[in-house]
Amino acid sequence: MTIRPGERLSAGVKPCERNRRGREGTGNRNTGNRPQINQIERHPHYQRKEDLEVMKELGVQPQAWAPFAEGLKGMFEEPVLKEIAQKHGRTPAQIILRWNVQQNVIVIPKSVHKERMEESLAIWDFELDDDDMEQIAKLDKDCPSMLDTRKISEVRRVYDYLNNPVLTSL
Ligand SMILES: NC(=O)c1ccc[n+]([C@@H]2O[C@H](COP(=O)([O-])OP(=O)(O)OC[C@H]3O[C@@H](n4cnc5c(N)ncnc54)[C@H](OP(=O)(O)O)[C@@H]3O)[C@@H](O)[C@H]2O)c1
Repeated sequence: MTIRPGERLSAGVKPCERNRRGREGTGNRNTGNRPQINQIERHPHYQRKEDLEVMKELGVQPQAWAPFAEGLKGMFEEPVLKEIAQKHGRTPAQIILRWNVQQNVIVIPKSVHKERMEESLAIWDFELDDDDMEQIAKLDKDCPSMLDTRKISEVRRVYDYLNNPVLTSL
């Protein structure tokens, strides 16, 4: 690819955690080079309302990695999600994805099962109402489920990857 003078590549960034939020999560205010997409851990247990507001303000598109939190901490068994799923004739997985897209968050769910992939794609013909959104908002634990870089043990786990390449996330 040839980049001509004055042209700029589109940029994305991946996980920004709380302590780096201002710098990586929203781009560098000094240079004006903002990412177009910010890929963050985001799911009903870690909703990141404030981060989304800042990204909206700066025109950065949020993208949720591991939108199901890999099913950790009972995500698919959350009574609130099951209840809303039943109300709409959907699954908790579909409710989680729909909740994201209704807040303008791109989702990248993963499954090795064809039927679950199809399920994840079938979220465009129903809508969560205000009450559903309010109920899901109450599930926020304001804490990462996958990678908590506020913990030094987690940082060490990531940096030790080459010696112990068994990570459930990343
Ligand atoms: N940028 C980053 O740092 C970063 C970090 C983590 C992940 N990611 C990316 O985010 C994407 C997804 O992340 P992820 O795979 O870690 O987590 P995820 O999408 O939150 O969860 C995947 C897990 O959920 C299960 N699952 C999927 N659909 C389901 C359904 N309908 N019902 C019940 N279980 C279901 C999958 O099982 P089955 O496969 O058995 O269906 C798998 O165990 C991947 O593309 C990954 O590369 C990026």
